[in-house]
Amino acid sequence: MGLFGGKKAKPLVGLDIGSSSVKAVELKKTKEAYELARVGLEALSPETVVDGAIIDALSVSSAIDRIYQGQKISNKNVATSVSGHSVIIKKINMPVLDEDELYDQVYADAGQYIPFDIADVSLDYQVLEPSPAGDTQEVLLVAVKRDKINNYQSALIGRTLALVDVDAFALQNVYELNYEPDAETTAALLNLGASVMNINIVRGGIPLFTRDVSVGGNQYTDALQKELELSFEDAENFKRGQAVAGVSDEQKAGVLRSVSEILVLEIQKTFDFFRATAGAAAIAHIYLAGGAARTPGLLDLLKEEFQMPVDELDPFRRVTYNPAKFSDEYIKEIAPRLAVCVGLGLRSFDAA
Ligand SMILES: Nc1ncnc2c1ncn2[C@@H]1O[C@H](COP(=O)(O)OP(=O)(O)OP(=O)(O)O)[C@@H](O)[C@H]1O
Ligand SMILES: [Mg+2]
Repeated sequence: MGLFGGKKAKPLVGLDIGSSSVKAVELKKTKEAYELARVGLEALSPETVVDGAIIDALSVSSAIDRIYQGQKISNKNVATSVSGHSVIIKKINMPVLDEDELYDQVYADAGQYIPFDIADVSLDYQVLEPSPAGDTQEVLLVAVKRDKINNYQSALIGRTLALVDVDAFALQNVYELNYEPDAETTAALLNLGASVMNINIVRGGIPLFTRDVSVGGNQYTDALQKELELSFEDAENFKRGQAVAGVSDEQKAGVLRSVSEILVLEIQKTFDFFRATAGAAAIAHIYLAGGAARTPGLLDLLKEEFQMPVDELDPFRRVTYNPAKFSDEYIKEIAPRLAVCVGLGLRSFDAA
């Protein structure tokens, strides 16, 4: 689903601007599938991106510059993704029309589905599936506030925003390529970053329900910081496995668990709402992406609470890399943080 980028495939650098770091991925097509050509991550300081808005465009831009220089990336066309309140995703029922008529109809009707002035948004849509009777079709309508796109553009100094995607759909894209779900499998895709969790419940290749929740890895770090009286940096390192004098692993596990329980409640609420509105499909599998997927104890707690398979979403399950260029250890270390970014990089190719 190429949003706001035209339908023609062209080489793009996937660029994921998160609140804790910027990630960039360039892929190339191989005979069998796709190969990682270039990848880079650069940390951002805490006030740079807040609530999904780029506050300090220059800092983001120089982080992107550092990745480009470090990885010798020359392609200036980038695909990036947005999420949050500036993004409206609606499923609408449309009559079965030819391509041009559908375009006109969607644009004519969009105003009634979007809570913003239509002049202030960029629109795109995708036909999902025909109704069982075949007389109507389900269309996924996506609107992103122009302000938001301009905000992202402002950090791309010297580069072209060739495609704007939505985090949840980039996540779905990387899932579809790597797991090839059959049409009936319903799975919950969770991208747990530093400050936001993107949720996308999909059946096969169809998104059924998307939601963004303001929870993430920062909450764990904040809790460790407060409960154990550590600096943010110490708490962050402690969370990721470094020892801190005077604090036991039991204390850490207890604090992390209490935050994971809050997270479980949020996921539960979403699943309940999904069940109540989307009807039959039962969620059979949870895939967890984002850096906070690595929070000690989280995966096991999700398994226990939801009684279903829970796996880390591996963006390199079917995307290969040259081990002489990128070590297995490095790829394994960064994999969950790169899910959205690899999903964006895949937009370079027709099939994705
Ligand atoms: N090994 C680890 N254990 C626990 N948490 C980790 C680990 N590695 C990274 N994290 C956490 O993952 C988060 C960063 O993940 P990610 O890069 O997906 O977020 P982001 O894209 O920058 O943020 P967002 O999408 O929420 O704006 C941080 O909160 C970080 O502490
Ligand atoms: Mg992110």
